[in-house]
Amino acid sequence: MSKTGLTEVLLNEKKLYKPSAKVLKHAKVKQWKATIDKANKDPLKFWEEAAEELEWYGRWHDILDDSDAPFFKWFVNGKCNIVHNCLDRHIGTPTENKTAIIWESDSGKRRKLTYKQLYKEVNKLANGLKFLKVRKGDRVAIYLQNIPETAIAMLACAKIGAVHSVVYAGYSANALRERIDDQAAKILITSDVGHRRGKIIDMKWLCDKAISGSPSIQHVIVIRQDGVHVPMKMNRDIFYDALVETQPDVCKTEVMDAEDPLFILYTSGTTAKPKGVVHVHGGYMVGIHRTFEWIFDVKENDIYWCTADPGWITGHSYIVYAPLMSGVTTVMFEGVPDYPKPDRIWRLVDKYKINILYTAPTLIRALMRYGDSWPKKHSLKSLRLLGSVGEPINPEAWRWYHKVIGKSRCPIMDTWWQTETGMIMISPLSSMPLKAGSATLPFPGIQAEVVDKNGKPVPAGKGGYLVIKNPWPSMLRTVFKNPQRYLDTYWKDFPGLYNTDDLAHKDKGGYFWIQGRGDDVLSIAGHRIGNAEIESAIVSHKAAAEAGVIGKPHPVKGESAKAFVILKKGYEPSDKLIDEIKKHIRSELGPIAITDEIEFVDKLPKTRSGKIMRRVLKAWELGQDAGDTSALAD
Ligand code: WTA
Repeated sequence: MSKTGLTEVLLNEKKLYKPSAKVLKHAKVKQWKATIDKANKDPLKFWEEAAEELEWYGRWHDILDDSDAPFFKWFVNGKCNIVHNCLDRHIGTPTENKTAIIWESDSGKRRKLTYKQLYKEVNKLANGLKFLKVRKGDRVAIYLQNIPETAIAMLACAKIGAVHSVVYAGYSANALRERIDDQAAKILITSDVGHRRGKIIDMKWLCDKAISGSPSIQHVIVIRQDGVHVPMKMNRDIFYDALVETQPDVCKTEVMDAEDPLFILYTSGTTAKPKGVVHVHGGYMVGIHRTFEWIFDVKENDIYWCTADPGWITGHSYIVYAPLMSGVTTVMFEGVPDYPKPDRIWRLVDKYKINILYTAPTLIRALMRYGDSWPKKHSLKSLRLLGSVGEPINPEAWRWYHKVIGKSRCPIMDTWWQTETGMIMISPLSSMPLKAGSATLPFPGIQAEVVDKNGKPVPAGKGGYLVIKNPWPSMLRTVFKNPQRYLDTYWKDFPGLYNTDDLAHKDKGGYFWIQGRGDDVLSIAGHRIGNAEIESAIVSHKAAAEAGVIGKPHPVKGESAKAFVILKKGYEPSDKLIDEIKKHIRSELGPIAITDEIEFVDKLPKTRSGKIMRRVLKAWELGQDAGDTSALAD
């Protein structure tokens, strides 16, 4: 492991924020200590009870099969479909007339879909997919902005047992191609254009670029967002409206085994190649339903807004699937929260009377910089509970969020989890006392620990590696078509323990403080991107011979990328070349991989085996002690 950051940590932030009587009154879990103790005594029973809150076509005969660990199976032989719980079971109940999705676009366009309308839309597309010969187990790639059709497409796939794979629309055509090829997707669903900050994004054009020569894609389904002219390839491309208009609005929901795959979501790791994280129907629905209900204290008529993008796990679990299972109203917003003005987000909160707001520290810090006058223009009185996800929230941002946005009345759920965990793993429950900047305690039934490099727990206040000790229902099942990578990435470093690849410490009260990722993954504005991914994009530029990429602390984005590049012979450093390489990274990976700084160097610090020591680069850059450099080649 090439990790740094094992530091002694000050036990700061002693102040406890205790829940008010009003918060306690609404809390789903009032006795948090007793609940955690009980769940930890018998986690299987805890998860079985959670599973019983949902509807199944056939009951499991074992809750957990760990005979082939770490390839765990949950709710063995149980029969279900997550879409049955998201939609079918609400039909014929009063929920069918409730608003399922409120959508607003960048430019202020609006749409509302009731549960019944959403159900019908999903059925039509599900039938359309069948018409295009999509069968159970086939992969469907989805490359869309934050629009209702993204949710519709995911649900339609799941309904017929197809496996969806949403690719975040901020990825480039090359990144999309790589993901489509890895899973051999049969269908690609996209739109003519997308919108961001008033700009038009040529989605279809990007898709055409991504799939030219693709051996697997048979059809492209194109949603007409603006109705602009886009080239359509005969016999391959079809407009969404043309496909669904003749389809019936009823469609049988496929009976799935609990362990049948629901989706693949690609995530960054230590190598340049992204990993296809596989999630399944049964355990996933149980895990996200229970965490959503308990952590966010969901009430029947809640209007809930998670500002993530459906292209990330947060969007999958907590914009689409969990809110729909709970029958609440979920808000989807295609724009950015500070456009056209820095109070767009607060305007939306008041306009839609949002009760629960779930967002990311990078956004909180950005909004904080605009000053208090922007949120103060709005009442924000509908807000009851706030959430944070994606990266550590610094105490200063936490306190601002608490005071200026939550008016000191809304508890903040700082939720730690990962694409791989599927559900929130470490988070407060609203009845717990909070500490600004701490994700507090593992969710009931989850046993987390901070360990040293030998896997032994470290004392309070000492930094170490965050691991999970027991399986949980919504855990990833494997890396798509690469079980060995699943074993090597998550289970090799600490036998028997799931390695999160995050660094953390616990304080004396047992609260967890997550410090961030190990050395090989950056978190830029909360988006995970591998250092190796950017390095490999750089060296694919004709002038670059070698590159080392590090993350630097950034006041808003949390982290920003800096690249050190060795040029090939015959190329001279220049500002023009810096610009060119930046553009090249963008075209290889997309705007998500934005690299703020590029510096040309003659040498990079390497181990004797030739591996670039990013840790040393980083220490040099930040003027810190590089620590143990005995592995350096020279
Ligand atoms: C980081 C996002 C600190 C962490 C759900 C993790 C956090 C990675 C928090 C997963 C948090 C997420 N506090 N760090 N509350 N939430 N992280 O897969 O480093 O996009 O490993 O999933 O984000 O990122 P991913």
